Amino acid sequence: MAQTWTPNSWRQKPIQQVPEYPDLAALEATEARLAKYPPLVFAGEARRLKSALANVAEGRGFLLQGGDCAESFAEHGADTIRDFFRAFLQMAVVLTFGAQQPVVKVGRIAGQFAKPRSSGIEKQGDVTLPSYRGDIINGIEFTEEARIPNPERQIMAYRQSAATLNLLRAFAMGGYANLDNVHQWMLGFVKDSPQAERYRKLADRISETMDFMKAIGITSENHPSLRETDFFTSHEALLLGYEQALTRVDSTSGDWYATSGHMIWIGDRTRQPDHAHIEYCRGIKNPLGLKCGPSLTADGLLELIDLLNPANEAGRLTLICRFGHDKVAEHLPRLIRAVEREGKKVVWSCDPMHGNTITLNNYKTRPFERILSEVESFFQIHRAEGSHPGGIHIEMTGNDVTECTGGARALSGDDLADRYHTHCDPRLNADQALELAFLLAERMKGGRDEKKMVVNG
Ligand code: TRP
Ligand code: MN
Repeated sequence: MAQTWTPNSWRQKPIQQVPEYPDLAALEATEARLAKYPPLVFAGEARRLKSALANVAEGRGFLLQGGDCAESFAEHGADTIRDFFRAFLQMAVVLTFGAQQPVVKVGRIAGQFAKPRSSGIEKQGDVTLPSYRGDIINGIEFTEEARIPNPERQIMAYRQSAATLNLLRAFAMGGYANLDNVHQWMLGFVKDSPQAERYRKLADRISETMDFMKAIGITSENHPSLRETDFFTSHEALLLGYEQALTRVDSTSGDWYATSGHMIWIGDRTRQPDHAHIEYCRGIKNPLGLKCGPSLTADGLLELIDLLNPANEAGRLTLICRFGHDKVAEHLPRLIRAVEREGKKVVWSCDPMHGNTITLNNYKTRPFERILSEVESFFQIHRAEGSHPGGIHIEMTGNDVTECTGGARALSGDDLADRYHTHCDPRLNADQALELAFLLAERMKGGRDEKKMVVNG
C-alpha cells in the first residue's frame, strides 16, 4: 500500500546524486523564493502532451525528444535557441513526412541543467575537486570556488528557462514554424552539407502540397495547424529541491504538477524504487520518462511501472531505453515481453546516445555508426516483438560542432578538437541529427509498408 504523497515526501527517502551545499540556510531561502515564482508551464499543457503521448503508446505517432546534454549559462542566447529549434523542426518535418504520422515534439531544453555523475570527485594531476554537476548546481571551471554548489544558480536556471521557453513559444506559435517556411529553415545548413540537397527535395514536395491545398482553399491563415506546432519541454528531474519548489496544485483538477517543464524523466542512476526520485515523480501528474539501462531487470521494470503508473494510463510513462549498440539485442526483448505480457501501456523510446560513449584522443565521443546501429536494432526488435517503436531521445544541437565522430561528413577523432563545445556529453551536430532523421523516416516508411501488406494480404 503506497503511503501518502506530498511534494516533500521524497525528503524522507534515501537519495542519490545530491550536491553538498555548504550553506543549508541559503539553500532553503532560495527554495522558498522559487516557490513563489510563477510556474514555467501549465498543467493543461502537460495534459495535452500526455494525450499526444497516449496516441504514441497506442501506435499512432512518434516521439521526437532531443536537445543538449546539459544547457549552459554561458551559451544562452537567441541564436543558439533558434539554431536548435530550426534543426529540430527539420527533423520533425522529415519524420512526419516519412512516417505519415504525427510527431510529438519535446525538447531537452528550458530546464535541462542538472547532471548525474558517475563519480563525486574529479581528479586533474594531483588536484581533486568535487565534480561538475551542471550549471544549476556549480561551475564547470576546475577551481575550488567554481565547484562549490551555489543555490543562487537555481534562480539563474529558472530565469534562463523562462527566457528560453518564451522564445520557443514565440517560434512555435508566432509564425517561424509555419510550414510555408519549410525552405527558409535551410538557411542553417553549413556549406557543402550532405543533407542539404536531400532536405531541399523534401521541402519542394511539401511546398507543392501546400500550393495544392492553397488552390482548394486550405491555407496557413485559415488552418492554424499548418502554421503552428506544439513544442514541449523536458529535463531530468534530478535536483529535487528545485523541482519541489516548482511543484504546484492545478486549480482545475486539484492535482499536483511539476511546472518546471512539461515532461520530466528519471535517470538510470536514480531509479531505485524506494528512493527519493521515484517518490517525487510518482506523485505528480506530468508525463514521465524512465531511463532503462542494462542493469534493469524485467521484474524491476514492472515494479517501477506499478509505482509510476498504477492506473496504467497511456501517455503517462515513456521508457527511454539506453543499452548500447552491442547490448540492445540482449536486454530490450525481455523488457518488451514483460511489458506486453502484463498489458502495460508505455511509449517505447530509444536513447542511442548514452550507451555508446567512448573516449578518443582524450575526448568523450560517440561514433555515429554505433548510434545508428542501436536505432536500427531498436526498430528491428520492436518489429519482431510486434510492439511499436515509438520514439527517439537524442542529444543534439543546431550548431556545427565536432563532438560525435562519423556521419556523412565522416568526422574523425582528429576533428574532435575543432569545435568541441559541450558542457557534458557529445551531441549530434545539425547535420548528423538530420541524417539520423532521414534514416528513421526510411525505417518507419518500411514499417508502414509492411503493415499495409499484412492488411492487403
Ligand atoms: N501542426 C502540425 C505539427 O506540428 C504541422 C506543422 C506545422 C509542422 N509546422 C510544423 C510539422 C513544423 C513539423 C514541423 O505536426
Ligand atoms: Mn548526457
